[in-house]
Amino acid sequence: MIGKCLFPVAGYGTRFLPATKSMPKEMLPIVNKPLVQYGVEEAIEAGMSNCALVTGRGKRAIADHFDISYELEHQIAGSSKEQYLSGIRDVIDRGVFTMVRQREMLGLGHAILTGEPLIGDQPFGVVLSDDLCLNKGGPGVLAQMAALYEQHQCSIVAVQEVPREEVDKYGVVAGVTEGDGLTRVSKMVEKPSPEEAPSNLAVIGRYILTPDIFDIIRNTPPGKNGEVQLTDALQAQAREGRVLAYQFEGLRFDCGSVPGFVDATQYVFEHYYGQPE
Ligand code: UTP
Repeated sequence: MIGKCLFPVAGYGTRFLPATKSMPKEMLPIVNKPLVQYGVEEAIEAGMSNCALVTGRGKRAIADHFDISYELEHQIAGSSKEQYLSGIRDVIDRGVFTMVRQREMLGLGHAILTGEPLIGDQPFGVVLSDDLCLNKGGPGVLAQMAALYEQHQCSIVAVQEVPREEVDKYGVVAGVTEGDGLTRVSKMVEKPSPEEAPSNLAVIGRYILTPDIFDIIRNTPPGKNGEVQLTDALQAQAREGRVLAYQFEGLRFDCGSVPGFVDATQYVFEHYYGQPE
């Protein structure tokens, strides 16, 4: 079983300035819960209770969020307000949180390599918490992927169909269909133009990676935008038939963009807020 999940949370979140000037993007709340907590809850549900956070400067609030706040706890102990803390207390009790800092933001691939000492030589999940994934009444996306890993024992990327004109915001995959929602990936391209995209299947922020990815990233030169791209490293595994793309069950909101963030807020307010967890 996969027990660890990596959370690259070092990015600048420039699309949310000025909100993200002194506050991490991952602490922006969807209704009353920060984005990163949704991701951590999804990982714990999938059995990955060991959460490895790749943070950066100005991200201390994330570490504090997954720790006890003594003053606050003392202040509201025994009052009706205590209930508001029960959700995060439960997360803190069930999870183990480790952290490492990415000193320079050299891309997602580099962020993942920075997390290697926290992961070691074992398969692991990756959650980009600015992609909010929800599957009301069913297993979360990472739990779906963990079950698939048990069968296939290779890297798995979550994908969804996007309009052709939007492929240039994503890593895009192509390959051979293997069954319901599964594609054996032969090609991966980072942010292609609509004309050069091999399909409209876009990779979103959920991965299961085998640990050989670390050595591959180490040997991957910077790609698009001068960043070390995870897509380029995954392409090396894909060439050997060791990557599956999975069209998951559930919804995904791009909360790294303002329209996606607003849609997610609306959806969570309507379908989750005030309902028993
Ligand atoms: P994004 O490019 O979407 O995030 O990276 P960003 O840079 O924070 O946002 P914008 O584009 O400036 O608005 C995807 C994920 O990878 C992480 C980010 O934190 C985000 O969760 N990331 C990216 C890192 O941790 N380190 C990096 O060097 C780059």
